[in-house]
Amino acid sequence: MRSQGRTAGCVPTMGALHAGHGAPIARARGECGAVVMTIFVNPTQFDRREDYERYAKNLDADLEFCSARNVDAVFAPEADEMYPKPGAAFVEAPELARYLCGVFGPGHFRGVAAVVAKPFNILQPGAAYFGEKDAQQLAIIEQMVGDLNFPVRIVPVPTVREHDGLALSSRNRRLTPEERRAASGERSPEKGKRAALDVLETGPAVRVEYVEVISPRMRPVDRIEGPVRLAAAVWPGSTRRIDNVLCGPGQS
Ligand code: PAF
Repeated sequence: MRSQGRTAGCVPTMGALHAGHGAPIARARGECGAVVMTIFVNPTQFDRREDYERYAKNLDADLEFCSARNVDAVFAPEADEMYPKPGAAFVEAPELARYLCGVFGPGHFRGVAAVVAKPFNILQPGAAYFGEKDAQQLAIIEQMVGDLNFPVRIVPVPTVREHDGLALSSRNRRLTPEERRAASGERSPEKGKRAALDVLETGPAVRVEYVEVISPRMRPVDRIEGPVRLAAAVWPGSTRRIDNVLCGPGQS
């Protein structure tokens, strides 16, 4: 593709593709000469083995999804191809990884950074597309690419939501209707952390890991003086869900 002068837009995923993945594909299609998807359930980013084993895998359905959207190439390695021996070299962004999801899954972002860095080197895309739902992941990848001079442009893609506000995710299908109502929670930007906690803690069977008001670029804030992100990790049952909403002054 490069020899034809086509820049590849890469959409890294863990498969179980759904309408939410349509947005980065469409964006990449509009901006790049070719769209390359990665489909790989990355064992090194799961702190709990059972969560890795439980993760939905259906490569045939995913390939159909890609083909219906004219994806040019799919990179879908096996775990032993990606990690032929135990990884000894990793990329860390400790400043950004010490909050939020990094606290509740200490190895998670190290695994994410490694599995994103590898296809950046293997495929050498010109741009890569990441959903804003995983805002801390996005900030860490931007930091990695900036600090280590990866020649790839990182493009944030707005979160696609269901009609009730829940961010689209392959994990949503594990929620019962009651868990789902609980996961949708309170989204009013004005009410802030306490109100969000009140809603989440009084909801049915929800365990809150954290709710935080942080800067749009994932730094702690003392006072809300501009746009902020309300970020949360909750367990509506036995499934952990994360989400974040940009809110505060200047946001609707
Ligand atoms: O966001 C995801 O689906 C994954 O963390 C990613 C970026 C594909 C790395 O495995």
